[in-house]
Amino acid sequence: MPVDKVEARRHYANKNILAPMVRIGTLPSRLLALQYGADLVYSEELIDHRLAQCKRIENDTLGTIDFVQDESSRPMFQTCSEERDRVVLQMGTSDPERALKVAKLVEKDVFGIDVNMGCPKEYSTKGGMGAALLETPEKVRAILTTLVEGVNIPITCKIRILPKLEDTLALVKLIEETGVVALGVHGRLKEERPRHPVHADVIKKIAETVSIPVIANGGSNDIISSYKDIEKFRSMAGASSVMIARSAQWNMSVFRKEGLLPVHDVIKDYLKIAIMYDNHFINCKFCIQEVMREKLEGEIGKQLHASVSLREICCIWDLESLYDEAESNRRKIKEKLRKSGLAELPDAKRLKLSNIVEMDFVLKRCEYDLKKGRSPKTILHDWTKKNKISPPIYQTECRKTDRQFQSTLTVNAKTYRCTTWARNKRLSEQSAAVVCLRSLGVDDGKLEPVVRKVANGESALT
Ligand code: FNR
Repeated sequence: MPVDKVEARRHYANKNILAPMVRIGTLPSRLLALQYGADLVYSEELIDHRLAQCKRIENDTLGTIDFVQDESSRPMFQTCSEERDRVVLQMGTSDPERALKVAKLVEKDVFGIDVNMGCPKEYSTKGGMGAALLETPEKVRAILTTLVEGVNIPITCKIRILPKLEDTLALVKLIEETGVVALGVHGRLKEERPRHPVHADVIKKIAETVSIPVIANGGSNDIISSYKDIEKFRSMAGASSVMIARSAQWNMSVFRKEGLLPVHDVIKDYLKIAIMYDNHFINCKFCIQEVMREKLEGEIGKQLHASVSLREICCIWDLESLYDEAESNRRKIKEKLRKSGLAELPDAKRLKLSNIVEMDFVLKRCEYDLKKGRSPKTILHDWTKKNKISPPIYQTECRKTDRQFQSTLTVNAKTYRCTTWARNKRLSEQSAAVVCLRSLGVDDGKLEPVVRKVANGESALT
């Protein structure tokens, strides 16, 4: 189905977004950003000809989709159902056909695709990619048009600004004409470094020129240190959305409405996810070092520096038992899969073996007060708020054959769903909330028989 442009634009409008960052933008960081409240997350830049050589593999042990060059190598791109509707894959490319090949490879597993047109590094510009594209507008047109016409998911791009305002505005108009649904703007020239002030005024001019959502970027450090600053940058840049890189790299809780968390809490939250997805030790170490920064000089920093495995890192933050438990679970799952013949397992069963809680029941409207603030969804939302946990993320699938719905909800990095499909999206979300509440041991708001009739407008005496 072609992209519904209006709907897709809405998805990029008024959002707080984790920017693409090489090495930082891997799965655990993206999930952490979502847990703290980011609306969309971008992957690190992936170079088209490398990704084009990858195979798509369903990783039954981790419950992830991996794109790997060969089955023994670490994935070049890894994603999972928790981020399915919120992850944008960023691509480095200079060639429309190669870009399209990659886009088709990942199309079913990501929400959207972004083309990097801002990287000033020589390895990128030498091959005609990144910021080199800013000087070849016809190539920009060809790449974006090919992608927009060739795949059924939203296409965006991320640019830097040009020395002359009129050239920048001509470029963004050309970009808009290609049919992209949003435009990311890092408000610096390609020659400028992060220490140079961001040109929020130029982003504003761009936002006044195009009618697609503009995602302002470049405000870390000078303007954005915590959640409350995001709005300030958005309004300075007159933009619809804001994309954050360095401030998120240093403390991902920049996306938390309630404010920044201490870095050790952020590291622990990050490690819990990294453990669950068995993230590569080197990548974990790098990401944590970026959070520690000046604290690297201290005792904990020294221990981190000396660590040679993810388990050793976990020991520093007293998470070794969680690590051991996850490892032992993974071994059990592998063994089960080996015994049962991995290929025969249906999707639902595979997920169950990983990290999903499922229950089987039919939710009847008359059994719950779905209107008056006591619905399972509302109860769960209030519970997460009370416990200072990010609100649940719902994803709903519609089965084409009978138009029945099934929702999956993620809360605190765990996934819940009802195995019986519902007749509409609303009921399927309520069912998933019931699964979650029952599994947490929280009252799901099910009405007593007599009260039930009152709540639905019938007499309690009948
Ligand atoms: C980046 N940036 C970047 N940009 C991009 O489009 N693709 C990428 O892969 C990367 N990689 C990357 C790695 C690291 C470690 C940093 C710090 C930055 C640039 C980034 O997305 C952003 O445009 C700038 O950092 C400016 O935004 P902030 O940092 O002011 O929010």
